[in-house]
Amino acid sequence: MDKIRIRGGHALNGKIQIGGAKNAALPLMAASLLTEETLKLAPMPHLADITTMVNLLGQHGVKVVLNGEGQNGGSAGRALSLTADDVSSVTAPYDLVRKMRASVLVLGPLLARFGKAVVSLPGGCAIGSRPVDLHLKGLSQLGAEVEVEGGYIHASAPQGLIGGRVVFPQISVGATENLLMAAALARGESRLENAAREPEIANLAECLIAMGAQIDGVGSDTLVVQGVTELHGAEHAVMGDRIEAGTYAIAAAITGGSLDLDGARLAHFDAVAGVLREAGVTVEQRNGGVFVSRANHALVGVDVMTEPFPGFATDLQAQTMALMTVADGASMITETIFENRFMHVPELRRMGASINLHGGSAMVRGVDRLTGAQVMASDLRASASLVLAGLAAEGETLINRVYHLDRGYERLEEKLAGVGADIERVEAAE
Ligand code: EPZ
Repeated sequence: MDKIRIRGGHALNGKIQIGGAKNAALPLMAASLLTEETLKLAPMPHLADITTMVNLLGQHGVKVVLNGEGQNGGSAGRALSLTADDVSSVTAPYDLVRKMRASVLVLGPLLARFGKAVVSLPGGCAIGSRPVDLHLKGLSQLGAEVEVEGGYIHASAPQGLIGGRVVFPQISVGATENLLMAAALARGESRLENAAREPEIANLAECLIAMGAQIDGVGSDTLVVQGVTELHGAEHAVMGDRIEAGTYAIAAAITGGSLDLDGARLAHFDAVAGVLREAGVTVEQRNGGVFVSRANHALVGVDVMTEPFPGFATDLQAQTMALMTVADGASMITETIFENRFMHVPELRRMGASINLHGGSAMVRGVDRLTGAQVMASDLRASASLVLAGLAAEGETLINRVYHLDRGYERLEEKLAGVGADIERVEAAE
């Protein structure tokens, strides 16, 4: 199993190209099930989760073609064409769904277009129990019959879905995406209230509109959809990965360097930029990207609370905690989205961090320096936080179980090495 070895203490300077967003690409790929025509998406990041979605769609009968190579080794020129003109199965099996919870995003499109879907119930995962009750309740409000039996969601709407009002009792990115795709082909008007406002949802809505859907309120918490009888093919641009960009912004901050993040948009991580600035980091929109710098400035502890967009992203909580471990003073980090997203805490402590957990909050007291250690990655963003800690630590850090990183960061070690990090992937026999 591969490991990542980092020798810390190098300030990162230069330019990093931000790729297409995983969390935008996954629902966009699922949207291909809504039409028999071809949906073309670019730039597609090269990630394990994308491959899992390709395999899932492939077993439904979707024809998937990868066109073009990434430019400069990146994802810039890579496009995926998806054609669901001969869907042979409306079942998403356990073996694929258990690998990636976002597989549940095929539920809405399959049900809306074919009147039936059978999707394995995703299990729990490292960061929390993560139920899908909001997806199921919302689909029933659009007229679907939904039952859970033998570990599978059985959803049907033989006469098609019917537009309706769905008020989400809690904000959910995935449930909003599933319902938006389903409503696009429902009969009549649907109103999705208290919808999630993450930029990935606007990116999906714009794609659906390009496919012929009628959606008002894009970017707001109320999406109004006039259902149409069919959608057509389209070409659509996958937005830049704001979590990848945020992670590299923190890499510049934690190493006292300066990075240009090409293709990043400040508007997509305002809350994070706010925290970084308060901590003493310069963050500016510049030359078609975001410039981040902490050259010669002290780092100051800042309190952080995760919230749905436009609040501070839970997907950057672990990375921000790594940063705060070496800031002056204390920082209270509160996680409100997932109940168990502190798996990185014991590993950061092994590197010398001072962190106390109190329920959903972590009190981080800045230390003068971290020291390299062998650590274990537990989930995608926790792994990224260990990489960041390793970049700042004295000595060598060896991160085990890096397959978690490969789910969401394209060529992470190459991108970091390109701006001055001493980082390499080592293939180790188990
Ligand atoms: C998306 O997950 C992202 N995944 C996650 O990114 C991200 O952490 C999360 O949104 C929050 O921003 C993708 O976009 C593929 P939710 P999702 O439904 O849609 C609870 C990463 O690291 N909930 O907004 O699954 C849920 O348990 C990943 O890239 C219910 O209770 O998140 C959680 O506490 C990890 N019932 C909260 O809502 C439901 O039916 C928010 O979850 C659905 C969700």
